Amino acid sequence: MSLKIKNICCIGAGYVGGPSMAVFADKLPNIKINVLDLNKERIAAWNNEDLEKLPIYEPGLSKLVEKNRNKNLFFSSDLEKNISEADMIFISVNTPTKTSGLGAGQASDLRWVESCTRAVAKYAKNHTIVIEKSTIPVKTAELIKNLLDSYIKKEQKYAKVHKSFSILSNPEFLAEGNAINDLEFPDRILIGGEDIESVDSLKILYEHWVPTEKIICTNLWSSELSKLAANAFLAQRISSINSISAICESTGASIDEVSLAIGADTRIGNKFISSSPGFGGSCFKKDILNLIYLCDFNSLFEVSKYWQNVLTINEWQKKRVSKLIVEKLFGTLYEKKIGVLGFAFKANTNDTRESPAIDIVADLIVEKAQVAIYDPKVQKESINMELNNNLQNFKNSKNDYLQDSKLGEWACYEEIDDVFKNADAIVILTEWDEFKTIDWNNASNLMRYPAWVFDTRSIINEKEVKESGLNLWVLGKSL
Ligand code: UDX
Ligand code: UDX
Repeated sequence: MSLKIKNICCIGAGYVGGPSMAVFADKLPNIKINVLDLNKERIAAWNNEDLEKLPIYEPGLSKLVEKNRNKNLFFSSDLEKNISEADMIFISVNTPTKTSGLGAGQASDLRWVESCTRAVAKYAKNHTIVIEKSTIPVKTAELIKNLLDSYIKKEQKYAKVHKSFSILSNPEFLAEGNAINDLEFPDRILIGGEDIESVDSLKILYEHWVPTEKIICTNLWSSELSKLAANAFLAQRISSINSISAICESTGASIDEVSLAIGADTRIGNKFISSSPGFGGSCFKKDILNLIYLCDFNSLFEVSKYWQNVLTINEWQKKRVSKLIVEKLFGTLYEKKIGVLGFAFKANTNDTRESPAIDIVADLIVEKAQVAIYDPKVQKESINMELNNNLQNFKNSKNDYLQDSKLGEWACYEEIDDVFKNADAIVILTEWDEFKTIDWNNASNLMRYPAWVFDTRSIINEKEVKESGLNLWVLGKSL
């Protein structure tokens, strides 16, 4: 048995909610999909005629929006109307790490999940399936359920209420930059829930484009924990390969060769073993911190330390890169121009959340460098916001003497050649395709000698860089 679903709404039009619902609308043309967000500017951007101005850059997204928008895909800030008409509601709001109070620095801040749940409790009518799409701590479904039940209880005091809810967990595994492909051809779909009828209702929707054997149904807690664990495993692979990258640099081994050799073992696999300046993105750090909080709460201190080390290696890798740049440039960046190529946390996205570029560039600025930044998709406002926040922490944590001392500066450029002009060094931090085909002869002519190239993603043509007269350092190699 399943319920007939005609109207779906999703609260949160972000990197997860937006692309997920664009694919739902495309695959389910007979269902009306409303994507809601409190942020009116964001909704206006989703409704912008000019598809270049959508709030999120994701390959293939604008095409789907163009095809389905205002047919069965709508973007709106009217929570009351859209929630009341929905048979199924996805909660896809942000759940950042708490910055103060109990669990600060580790636990997720659920204030937005809570406020959405309250809106759902208030406006929903009849039977509604409420689905957690946001990554949340294990047992959040219980919190949502208690909140919804208490609303019904209170309303029933005054009148007969025909309102009921089922809660499901349906975590999203899309990776930014590849979101549309991940949503159209997922490795698996995970649905956690106790109410079989609701589980089936969601499963049937996915079966329109996902083979049944790829849909895994579990209890609620397994589903919630699997999302945290999957992200922790992925992050652990990157910290593992990054720890090996440092050994390569000291021994003469090459990280590319080691990755190829170990990845050829099918038990290990060749994906997710590229060394990098560290992992970023909105999920990995936050989800591991969540896992650590869960372990400590349950007195599993050794387990908690195990996962903490994945984060420690990530921080160490970022510091290693900035320290090395300073060392190669005679121990000082004072009045030196450092060109930074790439600020997004990975290629093919305009997202900068937790990007390793933030800490690395901030370190260079603290060393008084003049940093020139170029990223093909990231807006300069995002870069300024991230760096201002980061450097504010630095200023707050230092004593009066250091607070007075002047930091370096940064500027963002739209032309890559402006970054090369008079630069003492170029640091590649994101693996954008266009950086793979840079004309290094031209760059070399524009730079100030002795000039360096630091490639933290191992993407450039080493021979060409060296032949152009530039000094080269590549992460995980001893050149
Ligand atoms: C996702 C996941 O949902 C989250 O679990 C994960 O941990 C981080 O990534 P994402 O879509 O990337 O979130 O977040 P974001 O791009 O910040 O979008 C969230 C949206 O929800 C924002 O547009 C925000 O305005 C909106 N929001 C937030 C609401 O509409 N209502 C709220 O109460 C809070
Ligand atoms: C991740 C998960 O992959 C996804 O399943 C989950 O839903 C959300 O979190 P995302 O953060 O969007 O997705 O990107 P991902 O491709 O996982 O990359 C995360 C970080 O790891 C990036 O900074 C990337 O550069 C880095 N990375 C990835 C490496 O350093 N090496 C690799 O081999 C792969």
